[in-house]
Parts: sequence; structure tokens; C-alpha cells
Amino acid sequence: MALLDRLFAADADRWTENASAWWDGFYADRSKPVPFFADKPDENLLSYVERGLIRPGRVLDLGCGPGRNAVYLASRGFEVDAVDLAPAAVAWGEQRAAEAGVEVRFVCGDAFTADLPGPYDLVYDSGCLHHLPPHRRVTYRALLDRVLAPGGHLGLTCFAAGEMGSELPDEAFYRDGRLHGGLAYSPDALRWIFSDLEEVEIRAMEEQPEGSPLFGLPFLLAALFRRR
Ligand SMILES: C[S@@+](CC[C@H](N)C(=O)[O-])C[C@H]1O[C@@H](n2cnc3c(N)ncnc32)[C@H](O)[C@@H]1O
Repeated sequence: MALLDRLFAADADRWTENASAWWDGFYADRSKPVPFFADKPDENLLSYVERGLIRPGRVLDLGCGPGRNAVYLASRGFEVDAVDLAPAAVAWGEQRAAEAGVEVRFVCGDAFTADLPGPYDLVYDSGCLHHLPPHRRVTYRALLDRVLAPGGHLGLTCFAAGEMGSELPDEAFYRDGRLHGGLAYSPDALRWIFSDLEEVEIRAMEEQPEGSPLFGLPFLLAALFRRR
């Protein structure tokens, strides 16, 4: 895995410990018009909670960024661990949790090697999977095997094929030494990657009107799987 990681240019690596400086730079200016900088939970996540598809329990927010989904889940009675590579993201998340008066256990580090014992009833990933190179899907699945409780859920959002992200064949990323901004996934590709999980729902994220208290962009897929 480390050997394959090294096929990527250092400045194209957004998923190992070496990437924390890149993400710290990305989060340095909080006023940038980056859609996911807004303190709003994903519309699909709220819908899973409101429809009772997921219930309060232990959660891991994987690649939590500034913690918008972690803070929302904590406010709904979930016990939340939130992990991110970037110290700047974690500091921002801690500040948001304090302002909201909720408890979130933030961990700064690599989700795939950090001490995250689980078991979790929910692993939620908004926008991390598509920044991983193809071989790291194996590491991602190994993390789920380790920490996701039987009957637990995986929820994720990622670039939707045909809308956003690169659709080059996997080998092209290794030849080019970069991920071209992130990988696009189709519903079938997600079903294939997570074929040992049961599909609950895969759909496009619902675009949110301006001023909505929720986050939703139509070029993202939202998927919910359940461990048997
Ligand atoms: C597109 S951002 C999304 C942030 C957040 N989930 C949100 O939607 O607001 C992706 C995040 O994944 C984090 N990340 C990437 N690889 C990671 C890894 N191996 N372990 C932990 N975090 C990682 C990055 O630091 C970045 O904050």
C-alpha cells in the first residue's frame, strides 16, 4: 500500500499524514466560498435520522473536516468520534462543537491508522472516499470490517459519475501520479466496492435552495449501506 501511495506526486497526495499541510492550507481562510464550509448538515444525513433509518448510537465521522455533520449528530443524541488529518479542521470542529454546546471526541490523524476502536453503529463519510486512490479502497473496507458493528450503517457522499470528478480508468491515476481532483463513482461502483454490505439507499443528493439550513449539491451521490 505504501509503495502504491508513493506513485502519487507529493502535492497530489490528499489522504496520508503528509497531506495534513495541504488541507490545513485549504482550511486556513474560513471565509472562502467553499460550500461545505457552511455549518449545515448533509440533507441525506438528516433524512436518514428523520426517517428512523439510523438511530442514536456510536458514530465515526470519517474525514470530518470542520465538523458540521459531527456536531449535527451529537445534537441529535449520537455519541460521536470525528477524525481528520488536518489540525486546522479539527480546531474548527472543536470550536463549533463548543459553540453548539455538544460533545464530540475529535481525533487528529489518519483515520486508517488512528486509535478508533469502535464498534460504531454508524460510519459517516462526507467527501473523503473520493479523495482516496483506488488501492486505498481496500484499506477503507478493512477499517469498516474492524470498526462497524453488525447491523451498523455506512453513510457516504461522493462525486457522482457523469456530474463531477474524474472517470478515468483506475490505472490512469497511477500513470499520471494524481487523482485529478477526485474520483467519480456510479451507484454500481459503490455497490461493487461495498458488496459485502446491504444497500439501503443510493441516490443523488438533493440540491438545497439558498438559505436552506441543510447542505445538498446535485453533483454528489448519497449512499447508505448496512452491515449484515
Ligand atoms: C472534502 S473534505 C470533507 C470534510 C467534511 N466531511 C465535510 O463534508 O464538511 C475531505 C476531508 O477528508 C480528510 N481526510 C482525507 N484523508 C483522510 C484520512 N486518511 N484520515 C482522516 N481524514 C482524511 C481531509 O483532511 C478533509 O478534511
